[in-house]
Amino acid sequence: MARNKIALIGSGMIGGTLAHMIGLKELGDVVMFDISEGMPQGKSLDIAQSSPVDGFDAKYHGANDYSAIEGADVCIVTAGVPRKPGMSRDDLLGINLKVMEQVGAGIKKYAPNAFVICITNPLDAMVWALQKFSGLPKTHVVGMAGVLDSARFRYFLAEEFKVSVEDVTAFVLGGHGDTMVPLTRYSTVAGIPLPDLVNMGWTSQEKLDQIVQRTRDGGAEIVGLLKTGSAYYAPASSAIQMAEAYLKDKKRVLPAAAHLSGQYGVKDMYVGVPTVIGAGGIERIIEIDLNKAEQAMFDKSVSSVQGLCEACIGIAPNLK
Ligand code: APR
Repeated sequence: MARNKIALIGSGMIGGTLAHMIGLKELGDVVMFDISEGMPQGKSLDIAQSSPVDGFDAKYHGANDYSAIEGADVCIVTAGVPRKPGMSRDDLLGINLKVMEQVGAGIKKYAPNAFVICITNPLDAMVWALQKFSGLPKTHVVGMAGVLDSARFRYFLAEEFKVSVEDVTAFVLGGHGDTMVPLTRYSTVAGIPLPDLVNMGWTSQEKLDQIVQRTRDGGAEIVGLLKTGSAYYAPASSAIQMAEAYLKDKKRVLPAAAHLSGQYGVKDMYVGVPTVIGAGGIERIIEIDLNKAEQAMFDKSVSSVQGLCEACIGIAPNLK
């Protein structure tokens, strides 16, 4: 059987990390696309030269022409600009929306059967626009945010509880941004919900609230430290988990920015919800009951995503 073909649209910091991880995990052959000339070719050659050392077989190809992504099984989109200190994800909207238009046209022409994972920010609005620009099925265009946000939450919780990150599960809903909704009652250590752990004296409610806030600000904390760009290792790992779920038909239950057509009372928007990812793309959206406080946080998050989508329509009226 031929290897899978994975196209990375955008070969910057996240794209480069993705390319390396795909090799190490032997997920398939890689095409690195970018508008920057020489850079995707250089990174491809560099990673390919690591393959004899690490013992993986994969073809690497760098390109500046969309025809190179032809027939890709998966496209992972990071094309665009990342934020700098003092910027919010929303500040990127104008520039990155134009990039999504080009990327959408490229995917439509050359990889219409791909599963497309968008990482470019502001995520929920960009994946929404990318689906419209590309015209691909809504089950096959998805945004990566929830896996990353819940990974940050899990990491901070594991540190607080001094337990393995593997035994901490976390549940995050809503948009990728300051309004994301970490659901503490569905987040656990080995199945024990966080509110019970507070009652058991493992942590205090105050400490838990601080961890929730640090999770919400997780991206900004890294931007502040790096100064020249935004996070890339954890975003890349998170997108790889989603790609693997699709390519191996694992039917993983993963939070993702998925197209909603009435679920959670939301229509024609992408918002972070729990999903099942398998060979059919987004095979299911899991709808849970929210309590009043959670619903209020979710509504606030949805309205901020809606504001971004409206700003997109202001720039590109054909998105309506
Ligand atoms: N088409 C293709 N690639 C493009 C385009 C375009 N129109 N415009 C920019 N790029 C490329 C840049 O040349 C750059 O190599 O996208 C790449 C982005 O890489 P980085 O600047 O290193 O950014 P990165 O850290 O990878 O983040 C990419 O993901 O998390 C989000 O907010 C982040 O939107 C940003 C994206």
